[in-house]
Amino acid sequence: MSITRNTLALAGICAMAGLGVQVVRAQQTTAPAAAPAGKTAVAKIMPTQGSNTRGELTFTPDPKGGVHIVGSFTGLAYGEHGFHIHEKGDCSAPDASSAGGHFNPDNMKHGARDAQERHAGDLGNLKADPYGMARIDIVDQHLSFDGPNSIIGKAVILHEKVDDFTTQPTGNAGGRVGCGVIEAKTASSPSSK
Ligand code: CU
Ligand code: ZN
Repeated sequence: MSITRNTLALAGICAMAGLGVQVVRAQQTTAPAAAPAGKTAVAKIMPTQGSNTRGELTFTPDPKGGVHIVGSFTGLAYGEHGFHIHEKGDCSAPDASSAGGHFNPDNMKHGARDAQERHAGDLGNLKADPYGMARIDIVDQHLSFDGPNSIIGKAVILHEKVDDFTTQPTGNAGGRVGCGVIEAKTASSPSSK
């Protein structure tokens, strides 16, 4: 229950922040460069064949840069699970292989989230509790809403096993238990583009 309430509260804060920015921008006469503020994206993670994993993620621009990811998962095996953004927003294959490899716009090696070298989509591991639930609340500086590192139209994948951060190019995280496409969500304000 508290997950939902936290998420709603966060969404409310973000919506307010977004409105504030739009008011400021409306007073400007020159069109500013694409500003990510006010944007939101969501991903609904659905189970792959034989899996029970479900989840919902919300992506918002962080005021200090990067993308803030908040959400939760259910139906996981107890323990750690590799968590990545993959390059294709296509979860249609029964094993989610259609989502392709890790999102890697900078042509780097696979690694941990805080590693010097990593794929943009390398978001570490999520730990599921004994009830099969996992939560995430991170800000990642390698991701954005615009440009080559844009998360829009990519896929979120949760894996069967732990990402070892070493094995190339996958982290040896095993099969894909959940997959969801990251979709831009237009603000509730009707005046937004
Ligand atoms: Cu992956
Ligand atoms: Zn990777």
